[in-house]
Amino acid sequence: MKGVTVIDHPLVQHKLTIMRNKQTSTAGFRRLLREISLLLGYEVTRELELTSTRIDTPLQPMDAPTLEGKKLVFASVLRAGNGLLEGLLDLVPAARVAHVGLYRDHDTLEAVEYFFKAPSDLADRLVIVVDPMLATANSAIAAIDKLKERGATNLRFLCLLAAPEGIERFNAAHPDVPIFTAAIDERLNEKGYIVPGLGDAGDRMYGTK
Ligand code: PRP
Ligand code: URA
Repeated sequence: MKGVTVIDHPLVQHKLTIMRNKQTSTAGFRRLLREISLLLGYEVTRELELTSTRIDTPLQPMDAPTLEGKKLVFASVLRAGNGLLEGLLDLVPAARVAHVGLYRDHDTLEAVEYFFKAPSDLADRLVIVVDPMLATANSAIAAIDKLKERGATNLRFLCLLAAPEGIERFNAAHPDVPIFTAAIDERLNEKGYIVPGLGDAGDRMYGTK
């Protein structure tokens, strides 16, 4: 599909299967989300720019490649985005973080904003927006609308599961933002859930219902 990279590494697919399984505990689900975020993070950061730093190895000086971590922002769509965020921060500890608090109204499926906090200079940074689920895409579109309103111009969206309907709507709203996902599922059901899916990601992470 246009604008979408599916990260189909065997380790990602194996862990995703365990996460989908309804028998998996809350603790197991959280641990796997953190583990999988390391693998997804590896792919979504593949084209980050490197600069050069002068260092001394035990043998001699050299110009060695380093990442400008401060140039990166991870934008977590609350609550479930935080499950991906933790692993990504293990990979790039110097990254800045934005939080976008959104919940889906269960009747209208519209995204309702309740919190927003981001670094002020978004225009100078690559912003990687993270949320495990891209269902109707209302939440992802609203999060990116807001980040663009605050100056972001260079964005990527990272999720675990995407529905074809959500990808289509997302691409129409934000054709400049590439999507990275571990899988594209069949469809949305009548309640706006991804099927076969993994259920409500936030509830499975935190044991709520
Ligand atoms: C879930 C998920 C996404 C959203 C996806 O969040 O984490 O943010 O639904 O659905 P959409 O593409 O149709 O907008 P939810 O609203 O359940 O909030 P939570 O993370 O606090 O549980
Ligand atoms: N949000 C979720 O957490 N799961 C879905 O299947 C759809 C939206």
